[in-house]
Amino acid sequence: MSKDIPYSRQWIEEQDIQSVVQVLKSDYLTQGPAGEVFERSLATYFGVKRAVVCSTGTAALHLAYAGMGVNEKSLGLVPPITFAATANAFLFLNAEVAFCDVDPVTGLLATENLESVMQERSFDSSAVNLVAPVSFAGALAPLGESAKISRRFGFSLVEDAAHSPGAWSEDGGTRERSGACDHTQAAILSFHPVKHICCGEGGAVLTNDEELADRIVHLRSHGIARPNDPDGTRPWFYEQTELGWNYRLTDIQSALGISQLARLDQFLERRRVLASRYQNSLSTAPFSDIFSLPLANPGHAWHLYVIRFHKTGQRDKAHLFLKERGIHTQIHYVPIYRHPYYERHFGKIRLPGAETFYESCLSIPLFPKMTDSEQDRVIETLADYAEQAT
Ligand SMILES: Cc1ncc(COP(=O)(O)O)c(C=O)c1O
Repeated sequence: MSKDIPYSRQWIEEQDIQSVVQVLKSDYLTQGPAGEVFERSLATYFGVKRAVVCSTGTAALHLAYAGMGVNEKSLGLVPPITFAATANAFLFLNAEVAFCDVDPVTGLLATENLESVMQERSFDSSAVNLVAPVSFAGALAPLGESAKISRRFGFSLVEDAAHSPGAWSEDGGTRERSGACDHTQAAILSFHPVKHICCGEGGAVLTNDEELADRIVHLRSHGIARPNDPDGTRPWFYEQTELGWNYRLTDIQSALGISQLARLDQFLERRRVLASRYQNSLSTAPFSDIFSLPLANPGHAWHLYVIRFHKTGQRDKAHLFLKERGIHTQIHYVPIYRHPYYERHFGKIRLPGAETFYESCLSIPLFPKMTDSEQDRVIETLADYAEQAT
């Protein structure tokens, strides 16, 4: 009996284990030097002034929004095809959330919808209002275009880059990179095991704004500061100046992150090879009769490989067929507005682009440690499915 194939999983090597063991043998399990080393390495990799690591990607969203001043007067705009956390973090701060529909082909925020939502929606222009474009599946969100529209309406931008470390796109000869914050005030990352690099759990905020980074560091640790002791009599002094959280990443997790980041380019390369193997093997009949493939571009970071079924109902049948044969797939995503919690608070929303995407999408296995023979098994099982479906 062959082993089950997950849709994604981490890749841990001996060097990751040694990096963690070194911290376990050191003086600091948390608030030690590993966190700062990880932050400097991330800032260098993404080409930003600052990286602030924290306990999860969700915490990174919460900290970024809070640090930028989102509050109960704010409006947060999100695409519905994303993980719930992108929107939840606005609700943590009692802000209002609105959904901008996605392009039904790519699942990325459609900028024409962004413009119309901003025109139609009433919002308090004195508040910090924010758009969170998601670089979904590893394809860069339309950041430059979103920034142009947002400037006209006075919105700020945070890129949800949880899926897209290493992604880029070229527009008129200039290369735009995920997480670089060229058009956004901040970007966030997640270090969950299904993502490009993992810490067990973990996240980071990236930014070129030093003041914002300092504020996020402060909020990450309860909002407690240690101001300089002016007369030197109370070096122990600390005070809470704001309401923050304990969202720190431990040194144990940071050690894993440092070691994983050193292999991010290798992971990316393998993801790109696997994606092109899928593109080559699945592009013709019988596959093309039942599903289409994601749009490929050289800067795609391939967090997910999302195929799209032509006929309603086929996706769920294929999911079950694969599952029964030990191949695990996933739906990315149920549109956020469909979750019962959101329906209770926002009523029934259905946006055409998100609905089309949701009804037809299936993320098939893709992770750097996947072997060629595991991938061949996925392709052969899809061929078996295609044979009985057509
Ligand atoms: C697009 C997106 N944003 C945010 C998150 C939240 O990250 P975490 O699971 O690290 O809290 C995820 C995680 O799945 C995600 O996929």
